[in-house]
Amino acid sequence: MLATAILLSACGEPPAGADDPRADPGDAAKVALGAKVYAQQCEACHGARLEGQPNWRSRLPSGRLPAPPHDESGHTWHHPDYVLFAITKNGLVPPYAPKDYESDMPAFAGKLSDEEIWAVLAYIKSHWRSADVAAARVEMTRSLRDR
Ligand code: HEC
Repeated sequence: MLATAILLSACGEPPAGADDPRADPGDAAKVALGAKVYAQQCEACHGARLEGQPNWRSRLPSGRLPAPPHDESGHTWHHPDYVLFAITKNGLVPPYAPKDYESDMPAFAGKLSDEEIWAVLAYIKSHWRSADVAAARVEMTRSLRDR
């Protein structure tokens, strides 16, 4: 118990829910900033319409995966915001990928501020509009709280 408490405080306890207020898709100014960041930093790989690269589930000749969609057809919405933030900031490294995992997803730490990363996530989330995704995110929040 003590060990867990120390670990959590060392890493910064993640927010209890799927949705972090810093990535609010209802905040128009934030979404506008995020759209700009997305066009400059993400679109080349993840697509202008967030559609991802063709055949994104099949490995490239390099053995790496193509860029997945960030719209509702992809997998991004299956992750809580704090995981998306960590992946965007640090790339696909532990704890969200195995050690030495090889990926074409860059780490944006040093290139984007935390504020810009939250904004780009707000922009991405503004494309998630279906009732199914909303219900899944509510369920995710519930299971994170019950941990
Ligand atoms: C050079 C190409 C490239 C750029 C630029 C890029 N990505 Fe990626 N991204 C990828 C690839 C490839 C993957 C899948 C990697 C894997 O699974 O090995 C990925 C995966 C991700 C994931 C994980 C999705 C999931 O469902 O697990 C997130 C989140 C993400 N990218 C966000 C971003 C954001 C936000 C930007 C812009 C700030 C961005 N990416 C820019 C190539 C890119």
